[in-house]
Amino acid sequence: MQYHTLGRTGLKISRLGLGTMTFGDQWGWGATRETAAQLYDAYVEAGGNLFDTADLYTNGASEEFLGAFIKERGHRDRAVIATKFSFNGDAGNPNAGGNGRKNILRAVEGSLRRLGTEHIDLYILHAWDRMTPVDEVMRTLDDLVCAGKVGHIGLSNVPAWYASRAQALAEWRGTEPVSALQMEYSLAERGIEDEFVPFGTQYGMGIMAWSPLAGGLLSGKYKPSESGGSGVGRLQTTAGSGNPVFEKFTPRNWAIVAELERVAIELGRPMSQVAVNWVANRPGVATVLVGATKPHQLADNLKALDFAIPSELAQRLEEVSRPDRRYPYVFFGPEMQAGLTGGAIVTAKPPGYFPADPPATTPPPAPPQADDSVEV
Ligand SMILES: NC(=O)c1ccc[n+]([C@@H]2O[C@H](COP(=O)([O-])OP(=O)(O)OC[C@H]3O[C@@H](n4cnc5c(N)ncnc54)[C@H](OP(=O)(O)O)[C@@H]3O)[C@@H](O)[C@H]2O)c1
Repeated sequence: MQYHTLGRTGLKISRLGLGTMTFGDQWGWGATRETAAQLYDAYVEAGGNLFDTADLYTNGASEEFLGAFIKERGHRDRAVIATKFSFNGDAGNPNAGGNGRKNILRAVEGSLRRLGTEHIDLYILHAWDRMTPVDEVMRTLDDLVCAGKVGHIGLSNVPAWYASRAQALAEWRGTEPVSALQMEYSLAERGIEDEFVPFGTQYGMGIMAWSPLAGGLLSGKYKPSESGGSGVGRLQTTAGSGNPVFEKFTPRNWAIVAELERVAIELGRPMSQVAVNWVANRPGVATVLVGATKPHQLADNLKALDFAIPSELAQRLEEVSRPDRRYPYVFFGPEMQAGLTGGAIVTAKPPGYFPADPPATTPPPAPPQADDSVEV
């Protein structure tokens, strides 16, 4: 397993994180406690240290299972725990959800209790609530960091302008910055590339990619060569639920699955590994959250970083999955930008750029001579 530092923090996280949304079967498409424990152990065995959960997941069972597994094995020092708040935990009580200070203070105590820990390494806003001022959110999260209950903070499922406001506030106030952007990212969902990838790369936020297999669509259980395959899993269970996150069976996505299958065959790798590998190697991605309901699925996915996708095959995946070009982003492509640089080739400074020292062969300027005449 390889590790990256997250954003501009010193927190080291593995390139594959374990998504624990499937810990518990309360939603009808997860894993039992026993299976979840096997998934946990296999992931740790492979060197993984990042566990992603949320107070929402499986009605709290995900946090409880994860906390228990960590405690039983004495892993708290090794484990990096990421959890999230925003979704309502008490029907009929509007202050038991959303991103207001009252809910954040309620939610963090619930997560700490279910996880059986005194601190959360990465605390993430789960979804924009469209109403709480961003300064209230950032002030509250910074207070939690100062109180030692939270190590670092992140945002998930927010508009880019909102994330940008949050980061600017933290920069100007000198408070805890946003270190992670947890966003859906896969061959079937590339919507974050216009805004979040350049924003995260430039302003110190690592992307945590969720649903790298588009909820199972890219896992290999659907094989167009076999008349669509006979996959059974979450996407069938949730079909017709009205949740847009689960609506993956579209003509565009089937074209992506078909090309992914051809590429995987040429590479001699399972489709799931190719799909996870593709996400993990995209610019700005700090970690990919892999999820599973069965140990053999996770065993498969944990080998996703053991190879490189050759450029010709990567190009084919790029072409079939490339999002439509949208306004105003058409203005930022090479054709329009040439009009701004007057045709000169100008590229942004690469990361880590420092002005080069003058060449060693340049003679130093001659010191002034005492008898130099000076014209006035
Ligand atoms: N921030 C957010 O809003 C958000 C949203 C979603 C997820 N997440 C995080 O991201 C994590 C991963 O998301 P995800 O579970 O949607 O990831 P995913 O990789 O897109 O889907 C995982 C699902 O695909 C199927 N699968 C995985 N590997 C397979 C394989 N090798 N062969 C066949 N089927 C396979 C399994 O479902 P079946 O067996 O049921 O088919 C598995 O549960 C979550 O656990 C959570 O931590 C965050």
